[in-house]
Amino acid sequence: MKKTAGEATVIVGAQFGDEGKGKIIDAMVPEYDAVVRYQGGNNAGHTVVVGSEKFKMHLLPSGVVRKKRSLIAAGVVLDPRVIKQEIDSLAAKGIKVDEHLLGIDFRTQVIFPWHNARDVARETAAGEGKIGTTGRGIGPAYEDRAARTGIRFGEFIDAKTLAAKIASKTAETGAKSGAKTAANEAKKTLGRIYPDSPDAIVPPAEEIAREYSALGAFLKKFACDACLEVNGLLEAGHRVLFEGAQGTLLDNDFGTYPFVTSSHPIAGGACVGAGVSPRAINRIEGVGKAYVTRVGSGPFPTELNDGIGERIREKGAEYGTTTGRPRRVGWLDIPMLRYADYLNGFTGIHLTKLDVLGGINPLKICFEYQLDGGRAGKTKTSVFPMNSGGFGGVGAAEPVYLELPGFPDLPQAEWRKAAAEGVAKGFSALPEKAREYVEKAGELIGVPILSVSVGPERNEIIWAKK
Ligand code: IMP
Repeated sequence: MKKTAGEATVIVGAQFGDEGKGKIIDAMVPEYDAVVRYQGGNNAGHTVVVGSEKFKMHLLPSGVVRKKRSLIAAGVVLDPRVIKQEIDSLAAKGIKVDEHLLGIDFRTQVIFPWHNARDVARETAAGEGKIGTTGRGIGPAYEDRAARTGIRFGEFIDAKTLAAKIASKTAETGAKSGAKTAANEAKKTLGRIYPDSPDAIVPPAEEIAREYSALGAFLKKFACDACLEVNGLLEAGHRVLFEGAQGTLLDNDFGTYPFVTSSHPIAGGACVGAGVSPRAINRIEGVGKAYVTRVGSGPFPTELNDGIGERIREKGAEYGTTTGRPRRVGWLDIPMLRYADYLNGFTGIHLTKLDVLGGINPLKICFEYQLDGGRAGKTKTSVFPMNSGGFGGVGAAEPVYLELPGFPDLPQAEWRKAAAEGVAKGFSALPEKAREYVEKAGELIGVPILSVSVGPERNEIIWAKK
């Protein structure tokens, strides 16, 4: 491979998603020529605040707000209803999303109503044991991709192919009889696990075909080969930003399985999702909150089920962008970030929502785990103990905390002032104890902290002094 003249940066969620990647990406976009979403779908939710305008997006790459070429790559699962809604709502706010701004790879898998139905039905049937998915059909769409029965964007935008696929897509086992439609297939599966009203949740095939061919006609102009485009951009010396969705601990293989998503949010996911070589990537920047949050079920050793947790949730507005669910909240977990560093190879980390911790005294940081009676041959570990006593059930690993003095609960105007001063002063613009918290976190993770975010606004970021 020829060394490309361009520059590729991957932005990755370092925890369980919702780390504030959208804001960091938005701040970085001006230095880039294109932004690429490489995995996940509308389970993600990015909020970008520009003045009094709040842009909530689930599928569109954050680059659209800055009018930078935005690509949805092959590794994404795309709900056509949702992307149309987002395009329409941006148009209402004066941002015209046309084919010059947005491109969708022809390989991208399309989410259909039977995917949503399967997702919801499975979760309902699981009761207490549910994963707590976003219900957006993400898992089933990726299942169909792996089973090679999915419908890709290139097929979806061709009305004839789409109608034929919907009408005659057969179950892998019933292929020869050719009798089962995709909708029938979904109904049959749903009928087994959700006998009450399968018909109500999967519309008839003809209805799906009608609605989706209209959506296909609308979205057709965005079709592209994002793999070739991205490689071409890099070869020509341009700068490309890869926008990760969800977070490292939700990775399908390396997260807290089975309480994970169905794609690969880790940095390597950018390569397989967009079709670029690992050698093309120059920088990998993690985004982590100054504390930890999680939506949905699964292990969360530093979780706070007390007044402090409640206070952080309220102050940090920790409610899901996609589902509105209250997020679980806990102390900063350094071993989790060290594990994330193994998986991603961070060149730096952006620490977000530091202001939310203002007024809490003392602050705690988990810096290591006490393992189950030393059975693993040692009693402590400084890397997230995924396999201690069977992670995916936390096992007997206990977080060990360091106590740090808190910093004052500053009004937002004060944080804004610190952010403005930070341009010249870097982190020394932070209140002393806040700076100490950031420095301690960076030292324990062993990765440089690149920026600290102290408010939701675009300019409420303090960058480390270069
Ligand atoms: P799914 O991705 O909808 O299948 O959900 C699987 C798990 O990932 C659930 O715990 C979700 O709450 C979580 N999840 C999915 N997307 C996001 C996200 O963008 N932020 C945070 N959690 C997410």
